[in-house]
Amino acid sequence: MAASRLLHNAFCDAFGIEVPIFLAGMGVGGRATPPALVAAVSQAGGCGVLGCSALSPEETRRRIREVRTLTERPFGVDLLLPARIADAPPTRSRVRDEIRRRYPAHAAFVQELIRRYGLPDAKPADETVVDIDYAKSVLEVVFEERVPMFAAGLGDPEFLLPRARAQGMKLIGLSGSVRNAVRQRKSGVDAIVAQGTEAGGHTGTVASLPLIPQVVDAVGPTPVIAAGGIADGRGIVAALALGAQAVWIGTAFLVADECALFDSCKDQIVASDSEAFRVSKVWTGKTVRAFHGEIAQAWADSGLPTLETPHQRILMEDFLAAALAAGRHDLFYNIAGQAGGLVRARRPARDIMAELVDGAVEQLQRLRHEFAAALA
Ligand SMILES: Cc1cc2nc3c(=O)[nH]c(=O)nc-3n(C[C@H](O)[C@H](O)[C@H](O)COP(=O)(O)O)c2cc1C
Repeated sequence: MAASRLLHNAFCDAFGIEVPIFLAGMGVGGRATPPALVAAVSQAGGCGVLGCSALSPEETRRRIREVRTLTERPFGVDLLLPARIADAPPTRSRVRDEIRRRYPAHAAFVQELIRRYGLPDAKPADETVVDIDYAKSVLEVVFEERVPMFAAGLGDPEFLLPRARAQGMKLIGLSGSVRNAVRQRKSGVDAIVAQGTEAGGHTGTVASLPLIPQVVDAVGPTPVIAAGGIADGRGIVAALALGAQAVWIGTAFLVADECALFDSCKDQIVASDSEAFRVSKVWTGKTVRAFHGEIAQAWADSGLPTLETPHQRILMEDFLAAALAAGRHDLFYNIAGQAGGLVRARRPARDIMAELVDGAVEQLQRLRHEFAAALA
């Protein structure tokens, strides 16, 4: 029997997919999960998720439509729904002015980095400061395009429920703690992602091994999708043994050929051990796990206090724009999790999916062989 049939469970029937594997929706200005990657994962029987955070409504619509030209299978969209952001001026330029005025040492930190690396003084072209109202305008597009599944990265998706139910859209909430997962269950979502601290991106403090079974106990019968540190068949089977019904994988797909991250970022992931992926507030003002490079170290050495969201993000996006303008992709942030230590080769998404599925089936067969009496 095909490996994908062997990994098919009841969760797959509810979500209309063949194997219980999601490509996590990842932002990074649209680079991490472009339509080609999303479609490749869905075509391989999983569920690809477009990370559309910080993308415009028009770009989000374009990407959704592109996925549909590549696959007829189910896919999703992920957005960070910011629960709260500091009172901030409405444009990037005005936030920048406020940083210069109120936090001159932070402005000087970025100027010094730009000088140290000889970067041009480039700035991001887009003036939008993403807040909940902006996220809601993107959500409108997700509903209009009748996307089969929506995942809420940060924040509470409860207000979406009636509309999602009415058009048969599945809702998923992401959570890094039991408390947050219980809140998501009360919102009535169809499944909850329990994401351990190992994960790339915004992350909490509890590791997957203790978090997942606690979330399973706290939110049942709502299905739990395990995230954080899963990059091969062993991780998938471990997550299923902890009570999860599916897995949500980010880092392992960043090295896919279809992922539009820079080559230097992919190579950094392939070459690095798990210790290289650490939590820092430098990039967004919240705890984000990423490759710990020179910039994260310079921030740690500076001893500066973190600015609130969106100030810290906008401060550092000026640096990122300057690094990009100079083609210094090695200085660009590389958001990824500890699973990076397990990722050893760049490949097409189809091959990554095949290895995940075959690897999980192999582990199940190994366990059946090892524990024949118990499983008879
Ligand atoms: C590069 C990157 C960007 C991410 N961006 C988002 C995002 O925009 N929204 C979100 O809900 N989660 C985001 N995440 C978290 C993922 O959804 C997922 O939970 C995580 O990658 C799973 O852990 P893993 O990286 O160990 O596979 C991001 C993760 C990475 C690695």
